[in-house]
Amino acid sequence: MIGTGYVGLVTGACLAENGNDVWCVDVDKKKIDLLNEGHVPIYEPGLEEIIARNVKENRLRFTDDLKEALDSSLFVFITVGTPPKDDGSADLSYVFNVAEQIGELMDGYKIVVAKSTIPVGTTRKIKEIIEKKLKARNREDIEFDVAFCPEFLKEGAAVEDCLRPDRIVIGTENDRTAEFLKELFAPFVMKDQRLFTMSIEAAEMTKYASNAMLATRISFMNELSRLCEKLGVDIDEVRVGMGTDSRIGTSFLYAGLGYGGSCFPKDLKALIHTGNQNGVELSILKAVEEVNKTQRLAFIEKIKGHFKGQLEGKTFALWGLSFKPRTDDMREAPALTIAKALLEGGAKIRAYDPAAINNAKVLLPDDGRVVFCDDFYEALEGADGLILATEWPQFRRPDWDRIKKLLGAGAPIFDGRNQYSPQKVRSLGFVYYGIGRP
Ligand SMILES: NC(=O)c1ccc[n+]([C@@H]2O[C@H](COP(=O)([O-])OP(=O)(O)OC[C@H]3O[C@@H](n4cnc5c(N)ncnc54)[C@H](O)[C@@H]3O)[C@@H](O)[C@H]2O)c1
Repeated sequence: MIGTGYVGLVTGACLAENGNDVWCVDVDKKKIDLLNEGHVPIYEPGLEEIIARNVKENRLRFTDDLKEALDSSLFVFITVGTPPKDDGSADLSYVFNVAEQIGELMDGYKIVVAKSTIPVGTTRKIKEIIEKKLKARNREDIEFDVAFCPEFLKEGAAVEDCLRPDRIVIGTENDRTAEFLKELFAPFVMKDQRLFTMSIEAAEMTKYASNAMLATRISFMNELSRLCEKLGVDIDEVRVGMGTDSRIGTSFLYAGLGYGGSCFPKDLKALIHTGNQNGVELSILKAVEEVNKTQRLAFIEKIKGHFKGQLEGKTFALWGLSFKPRTDDMREAPALTIAKALLEGGAKIRAYDPAAINNAKVLLPDDGRVVFCDDFYEALEGADGLILATEWPQFRRPDWDRIKKLLGAGAPIFDGRNQYSPQKVRSLGFVYYGIGRP
């Protein structure tokens, strides 16, 4: 695994768990040292145990020496980041840099599998780069194959997704590679053999298409939630009514603060950019992005509206910082947009998150306006209102009497994830604001 981040570390650990010998490589020496000292640099349920087990049984190793890892590997996975550039396109410099190093260092047959999310045509470019480097070394005798296997894991459930994926997609240009990869991944899909081989380009597109569809469902529901609010209809009842249609399905239909994270926002931008480059306007996806942006702003307006625009001197308890529960990932987290807007308005924040506080600390001002609390009730002390930004399960059934004592009767509860019953919260004397609820 070249790139030991969310994808490389989880995939590496899960491949080791299935009996393979795995090297995880990273340029970040600190990360490698941490892992070699037995620490796991990211929060992901179940990951620590499988890393510990596989390290102990000598199937999983960490290094910053790419040559050492390459020499003893048949499969070389590229799992480095592909962050967005200013124009929305995917920054492929990390991927191409790895391809150059592979071409410079490899000494025998390798199957180079890209797993980072990359636009159609990128795997072919990886191949060209490696070929060029081998030519420059006069080592055109060294054979290699390339493939693209999109990664579908969800942060927060990454280990489970990786060990038991819905499907495995293998994009290759020849049968030899397809057979090798099928053999490697077969243990992950023992039960129903959901393993598909296709062209490299179709596999590259499959990843973007999947994320674009999921983001579309979220924005679709968020847009409808605005209309529901005006009509006095509860979007959550509508969700149940429509999602149980087997043609529609129940996933990704929750109205809320919109999507965030390291994937949906950047992958949508990259796909729109690819569309523009090819003269195809992806108007649905542009609307999906726009709804996602305005969804957060509308929520901030609700908070401001309650205080008649006067946030100066107010303090808010902010429950949940990560972009979704069960992860410490703060990339494009709605909580961040909300916190920044409140601070700009002159408010203070008392925040709590079960896993993301360390990551949030570097993203929010360090001047006393944001206090990070050890407990979610502590965050309520002296606050004028509660904002729920991430639906961690522990926030689901809070002690409302305790909340009332801390916040006082009549305080507003801004439920950004529709976690609480409006009737119940109102009956306790709070003012309730949800998303798309009467
Ligand atoms: N995070 C997810 O949930 C997820 C899911 C599916 C697909 N993806 C895709 O997978 C890719 C990786 O995402 P991530 O979230 O794991 O990223 P990440 O930022 O967590 O990890 C990337 C790692 O690569 C390392 N790196 C950079 N250049 C390197 C080099 N030359 N050699 C070795 N290591 C190098 C970085 O130090 C970092 O540790 C992205 O393309 C992303 O879109 C991510």
